[in-house]
Amino acid sequence: MANTVILGAQWGDESKGGTTDFLAEGADIVARYQGGDNAGHTIVIGEDKFVFHLLPSGVLHPNTVNVIGNGVVINLETLFGEISDLEACGVEVGDRLKISSRAHLILPYHRIMESWDDLGSGLKLGTTARGIGPTYSDKMNRHAGIRVADLLDFELFQKKLDFNLAAKGYALDQIGGEIDRQALLEQYYTYSEQLAPYVADTPELLNDALRTGKRILFEGAQGTMLDVDFGTYPYVTSSNTTVGAVCTGLGVGPQAIHRVLGVSKAYVTRVGSGPFPTEMPPDLDEEIRGIGEEYGATTQRPRRCGWLDLVALRYAAQVNGFTGLALTKFDVLDHLDELRVCVAYRRRGEEVATYPPSLRVLEECEAVYEILPGWKQSTVDVRHYENLPENAKRYIAFVADFLNVPIALISVGKERTQTIVCNEDLL
Ligand code: GDP
Ligand code: IMO
Ligand code: MG
Repeated sequence: MANTVILGAQWGDESKGGTTDFLAEGADIVARYQGGDNAGHTIVIGEDKFVFHLLPSGVLHPNTVNVIGNGVVINLETLFGEISDLEACGVEVGDRLKISSRAHLILPYHRIMESWDDLGSGLKLGTTARGIGPTYSDKMNRHAGIRVADLLDFELFQKKLDFNLAAKGYALDQIGGEIDRQALLEQYYTYSEQLAPYVADTPELLNDALRTGKRILFEGAQGTMLDVDFGTYPYVTSSNTTVGAVCTGLGVGPQAIHRVLGVSKAYVTRVGSGPFPTEMPPDLDEEIRGIGEEYGATTQRPRRCGWLDLVALRYAAQVNGFTGLALTKFDVLDHLDELRVCVAYRRRGEEVATYPPSLRVLEECEAVYEILPGWKQSTVDVRHYENLPENAKRYIAFVADFLNVPIALISVGKERTQTIVCNEDLL
């Protein structure tokens, strides 16, 4: 049984959730390995729409086990909200959810500290304001981090909380962020009781599953260009979103990974600040945002839209070792007369062949485009590759050839069934 990583190839929102849900039909386990409730993963089944921030996107399949690994940062309010929303829809999570005792917790002061960081540096990163950066900072700093296991040992939790409230007291005072210690302790005592049944030795569970030939899907959050090392730093998130995080965020060896499926839109979107060489002119940006319903699943912010950037995508394919590509939201381009794809960058009259690590260099880069003819035909009802319009096939072939990565899957609508499997062996 192949174990497949499903991860974002761009700046997030590539439909990792939809892709994971589609593949989860044949999976035993779906595991999240990084990020937190900054993620918003949408799944549409018939008329029903689900958005998951923390729960893995396999949870709608009644026979899957869903793992939240040590690499994830957990906001318990979000988690329990999601579980009860699902239960209200008749989906029981119960013992199908397993949470790592090593995962770190996002506490209310982390969210407040995020605006303190913004103030201090003057850098407006345009984060999701979920406290992700401060939580990962505390994890790496070691003195301040609070893990799931610490919450279950409530005396230790109380000690760690007091250390944090004292250490962060000045900053919290300055920005007027008040934490009611007693109320927080009461709330977290309740959470600790609610959380206990879900906590498991997840590396043991996953490695057992590997030994017995179960199929695991590894579901990424955010996207390659938001990776803290490989993305457009500092306009990135605070975790590694690339393939290495599967091992560090779950406790499995690299042999556990058989396929790496990069998920990319047929164009590009980006939420938040940062350079974006293929950003569309305002009219087209608005048009694509309207058709693609490009508003953040977590913050509802309008997403910036751009042409497909093959320079960035080739870089993502390389960094992650993509064995296949899922090209999503293909239908959003159905109406266009012609399409641009960025095949190189140009800076000060010279071609830049690889993705620049320097933000300053990147800001000076202009996109060099290849123009391809549109197909001007609806693809929303197409279910087989052969039935796609010729110019659509041409666009797909151009992308695959440029990247030297085969196309595994195409989505032509948000509904679960609006998916074209191009090559089952790549999934
Ligand atoms: P994720 O964060 O990568 O899981 O992606 P999001 O859920 O944040 O964003 C993807 C959005 O595109 C969601 O609103 C999906 O319902 C929608 N979507 C997914 N696939 C398609 C598709 O093929 N066509 C269209 N039009 N919308 C899609
Ligand atoms: P999914 O999993 C799109 C972006 C934010 C901001 C930057 C840092 O749904 O694809 P953070 O709150 O993580 O410190 O914000 O990263 N960002 C996302 N953009 N999709 C996401 O998740 C994102 N998670 C974070 O907009 O630019
Ligand atoms: Mg999203």
